[in-house]
Amino acid sequence: MDFQLSQQHRFIRQMMKKFTDNEVKPIAAETDRTSTYPAETIDKLFDLGVMGMCVPESYGGAGADPLASAIAIEELSKQCASTGDIVATHNGLCCDPIMTYGTDEQKAKYLPMLTKGRKVGAFALTEPNAGSDASKGVTNAKLAGDHWVLNGSKIFITNGYVAEVFVVFAMTDRTKGTRGISAFIVEKDFPGFSVGKHEVKMGLHGSPTAEIVFQDCIVPKENLLGELGKGFKIAMATLDGGRIGIAAQALGIAEGALEEAIAYTKGRVQFGKPIAKFQNTQFTLADMELGCEAGRLLTYQAAIAKAEGRRYTKEAAMAKLFCSEHAMKTTTKALQMFGGYGYTNDYPMERMMRDAKITEIYEGTSEVQRIVISGNMGL
Ligand code: CAA
Repeated sequence: MDFQLSQQHRFIRQMMKKFTDNEVKPIAAETDRTSTYPAETIDKLFDLGVMGMCVPESYGGAGADPLASAIAIEELSKQCASTGDIVATHNGLCCDPIMTYGTDEQKAKYLPMLTKGRKVGAFALTEPNAGSDASKGVTNAKLAGDHWVLNGSKIFITNGYVAEVFVVFAMTDRTKGTRGISAFIVEKDFPGFSVGKHEVKMGLHGSPTAEIVFQDCIVPKENLLGELGKGFKIAMATLDGGRIGIAAQALGIAEGALEEAIAYTKGRVQFGKPIAKFQNTQFTLADMELGCEAGRLLTYQAAIAKAEGRRYTKEAAMAKLFCSEHAMKTTTKALQMFGGYGYTNDYPMERMMRDAKITEIYEGTSEVQRIVISGNMGL
């Protein structure tokens, strides 16, 4: 068992750290304050080959492995969790299922679009009455000659109003339950597709979240992704991978908050000495460091299992659950160390705390992760 990152992964971390320090950190507060999609940063991430980085080179990607993608998301999220989220969704929830389940024709058409073509991708599963109980969506798809007709709507779609390619789940046979759900590749320009409500959120202000609507939306027959009726399995397996991305995002938030807390407590003098010299501060920082190390091991373990083609459902759920709860604890305690300053937007702590919260909710709540973990323990 080797606990060292390879030279290649260390290089990716250095590259991403440099990029994040130069391009992401300077605009992170403003991105949050103005709720602006960081379009220029995403363009630069396309230039750098990070958007769609796991896509094979033959389809315009960098041919990187899931650990490289996790490291990239982790580094970005240290300074801006919104940027980490946009990349995680694009890579894990759109490129990945097309790579895994797409036909040669689908891969040849869509993967170059999602890499060199600079089109952002999204994943559309959640509906107003189908959140944690993901199989209860009512969006349906009916075959009509050479095309499918989709009707319904999806909510809370990350990248919703900037994405051009969507992996969408719809009922093709209501009588078959989870086996009656199918997956489709939908382009934003298909007739009958529209973007609905833009969500105003507590955090992740730079990450564009929206409703998407299908009104007699015409989808070519050949855009069925994977086999008919296999959509739910595709959604679940895709979310296994997506959860590694959210684990990495949450880990990055916790690491970023820890870095800020160390710098602040070393400089902040109260009662005649830096507050980092108080044992209470030191013990709290030690717990944060411990959680980050454990979270890194869980996240990288899941990513390596995915790279090696092993089943990693439980590993991904454990990484996501642990890192998201650690991010919430760390940002809350770090903010406390900043006292009143932490509660203002002069410092990044309040943003980090708001951003951390969503990691306990999306791509499966903490409760869903516990369902998945316990469901894979042979109980
Ligand atoms: N991989 C492959 N197949 C899987 C699987 C996995 N990880 N998990 C389940 N399946 C299969 C099962 O084997 C079963 O197959 P069979 O029909 O052949 O038996 C089928 O799927 C149904 O499985 P379950 O009975 O376990 O399904 P369930 O309805 O009880 O659901 C659940 C279980 C874990 C709660 C699931 O609904 C779930 O994960 N819910 C959370 C959904 C979620 O994460 N949503 C987030 C959406 S995306 C987002 O938030 C961000 C964004 O930007 C869009």
